[in-house]
Amino acid sequence: MAVKSYLDLKTMDLKGQRVFLRLDLNVPLKDGKVLDENRIKAALPTLRFLTESGAKVVIASHLGRPKTAEDFKKLSLEPVAECLNKEGFEVLLMDSPDSEAPLELLKSLTGSQVILLENLRFTDGETKNSQVLAAKWARYTDIYVNDAFGACHRAHASIHAIAQLVPRRCFGFLIEKEMKALKTIKDNPARPFYILTGGSKVSDKIPLLETFADKMDGVIIGGAMAYTFLKADGIPVGRSKIEQDFVSKAGSFLNRMRTNGRQVLLPIDHILVDDFGSDDFTVSDGSAIPEGKMALDIGPKTQKLYAEALKEARSVFWNGPMGVYERAPFAAGSIAMARAMAETEAFTVIGGGDSAAAAIDSGFADKIDHISTGGGASLEFIQGSQLPGLEVLQVRKPEEVEEDEL
Ligand code: 3PG
Repeated sequence: MAVKSYLDLKTMDLKGQRVFLRLDLNVPLKDGKVLDENRIKAALPTLRFLTESGAKVVIASHLGRPKTAEDFKKLSLEPVAECLNKEGFEVLLMDSPDSEAPLELLKSLTGSQVILLENLRFTDGETKNSQVLAAKWARYTDIYVNDAFGACHRAHASIHAIAQLVPRRCFGFLIEKEMKALKTIKDNPARPFYILTGGSKVSDKIPLLETFADKMDGVIIGGAMAYTFLKADGIPVGRSKIEQDFVSKAGSFLNRMRTNGRQVLLPIDHILVDDFGSDDFTVSDGSAIPEGKMALDIGPKTQKLYAEALKEARSVFWNGPMGVYERAPFAAGSIAMARAMAETEAFTVIGGGDSAAAAIDSGFADKIDHISTGGGASLEFIQGSQLPGLEVLQVRKPEEVEEDEL
């Protein structure tokens, strides 16, 4: 049986080759401007390597989840093209993702010029993993490079179907970096190993927690999901948001951890409001949330307790904010955890989303070992799921590939 492996971008002959480069340029926009350029910056090493090696590059990415005509206006990749122009590229933006134009245009592409296909989700073949759409792109592709780690859990046409059609396929430098850091957490985290988790839903995080229940030394829980765990422990949660259907699952998980002598940390104080929309808050005395009150962030004692635990850790994986991070009065818990992640000597990995934003916005990013660009993808990866976008990149070992397939 043929051994599966990956081709290596660094050893490929790229000069004059037409490369279809799938990136995850799904960035937040406001008033037609990119709010957070991190995903764009993370894509640059591969893009620069390709153009500097003489490849002719067609970039493809999705942006948001367009449904209405209004979304189509708002979700153009034009602001992303502007960012790439500022990085020294000359971006030729195609008016539609399935445009035929690249076929001719590629012939005259020079220097720092790159083609950017318009938002892939402007055509429904993308999310349907359409072979027809992929075949259109394959007509002008010699080499397929996927560096869209954040989208690798999606079996979409630009991630999956096209890779099946192009024998010379590989991942870029961002995916390589992501896999290295996340593999360490998945397979071989230095002990003690802690998971710090938050966000609104227990249901989203149960697979992660159950996967690591017997592998981690402790779990530290914040965010709205903490109230479901407190409820399972019989602690009053007032009007805080909980998932009633998951109280019993949360209780079984706590039981399993404690029975096996693993540490469980839940909030011991909270930032309280009367109504979700209100910014006037008080700090609770203890873990019990008074009747009529709602908790929106972890309190200062909890911040201290959690930071102390992270100091003792040798590896930490963090996914999910500690409070309603997007509102300033309830961001302090997440920012304190970003600081604690920066200050611990542990190997630290953040799994995307608001927890990544907390580290970046608060200026601690350069002290974190790895901040993933993929929220859903990083969770699926460390849980051991096969990501369609990575699976499909595998090829037989180069020496086993027939000449005529190359
Ligand atoms: C993300 O933001 O997590 C990725 O870009 C994937 O986007 P999607 O969840 O809309 O597929």
